[in-house]
Amino acid sequence: MSYTSPLATATASLLTPAYPPALEAYWLRQAQRETRALSDRDAIQRLLPDIRRLADRFTTARPSLPPPAKTPGEGTPPASVPSAPAASPQPRPPADAASAAVPAAPAAAPAPAASSDPIYLRTARHAIAYSLYFAPLTHARMNLVLPELPLRAPEPRRPYRILDLGAGTGAAAWPALARAAAVGHAALSLDVCDTSRAALRALHETFLALRPSAFPTALLRTHLTSARDLDLPPHAYDLVILHYVLNELPPDEQLALLEHAARFLAPDGILLLCEPLVRAVGDRLRAWRDYAMDTLHLHLLAPCPHELACPLREPCHAVRTFPLPRTLQILATALHRDLRHLAFTFLALTPAPAAAPTSDTAPLAARLVASPTFAKGQTLCPACLPDGSFARLQLLHRDLPAAVRKSLRTLERGQRLLLADATPLGTPPLRRAHLSTSPVVPTKGSLP
Ligand SMILES: C[S@@+](CC[C@H](N)C(=O)[O-])C[C@H]1O[C@@H](n2cnc3c(N)ncnc32)[C@H](O)[C@@H]1O
Repeated sequence: MSYTSPLATATASLLTPAYPPALEAYWLRQAQRETRALSDRDAIQRLLPDIRRLADRFTTARPSLPPPAKTPGEGTPPASVPSAPAASPQPRPPADAASAAVPAAPAAAPAPAASSDPIYLRTARHAIAYSLYFAPLTHARMNLVLPELPLRAPEPRRPYRILDLGAGTGAAAWPALARAAAVGHAALSLDVCDTSRAALRALHETFLALRPSAFPTALLRTHLTSARDLDLPPHAYDLVILHYVLNELPPDEQLALLEHAARFLAPDGILLLCEPLVRAVGDRLRAWRDYAMDTLHLHLLAPCPHELACPLREPCHAVRTFPLPRTLQILATALHRDLRHLAFTFLALTPAPAAAPTSDTAPLAARLVASPTFAKGQTLCPACLPDGSFARLQLLHRDLPAAVRKSLRTLERGQRLLLADATPLGTPPLRRAHLSTSPVVPTKGSLP
């Protein structure tokens, strides 16, 4: 019996593509050029005040939002784990292409007033400092999320169209292009929008420098405008990204931007929201989830394995580890930060209803909503299940080959786990679970 499939999922962090050396080398070259340093290490040192200011802004000094409880890296999860079920699961109602290739063009139009002045990305130096620190973190985060999402298959004469709202220097767009290319899309188009001219210029220059080797056929179009005012064809984009943007807007503008972003989605498109782990934002994520499903009639792809009421009391989030590229190793030491942990929240939504399970034996997708605990002979995984319930999944080690038992140690909060079954044991929410051995892609299903 082979456990390759579920463990490929369970240990996805080990398989995540590393930060591209060409991208890291590019930003280090920019840093050297900007600071006139003789070595990249020296360049990082000279940019350290800018990097520290930016890093603090998003962790210890986030304006107008409460800071996280502690800061081991980019954010800290709430300590406790939700365990009690909420109200009984409620069903939710169901909900909507064009395409045009465009040449790469530099940012042009003047920036209208934004609700949050992007003062932290006002110059080329800011953009480089931002990218040195945040781009590898964003790349890793996106690469943990993207493999879960059902990107549509390639079609003749239909490029894969990505729209990144609040794209900054392109840290989230880059792994999105790579993921689309990895699933077979030869024709790629990327629209990016931001209120920071310096960020868009940096993104454009990166694209020009690295496109020939990375995505030779990809097309870029930049839009220097507030995302709320972006005027592009509706229902045209396969992937719309809002990565670490919504929390910068006043609360009353967040839902409006969500609605605006959803308009750009192709019928089988995906809207990906990703946000830092800040308690207030975590709670807002729940509000955005409800709004997206109830008002915009979108369907949930992730992280929830269901579209019922959320059974958690705490903000749902992931805490994942990843191998630090050299730049972040240097910065972790220089800034005295532990950067190995990515603490974040995300939502993936689509206009298309989920496909029905392909067979009775299709695996059940469970989401780890807290860190597993390891006891003699068993691993206990706090998880959300497709029936809308919260459970403590008991995986008995005697059911598993030694290699699988060992790899359970790598399970992390926020990962998806594919199960063959999850049978209630005596005391709720305990369930005896078995890992799936099926290679079938999971869809929503019901549990016994
Ligand atoms: C934290 S950065 C994230 C950048 C990028 N998404 C990433 O993940 O690296 C937030 C970005 O949103 C941009 N931004 C803020 N408000 C905006 C708005 N109303 N419209 C477009 N961009 C906005 C900022 O200029 C900044 O580049």
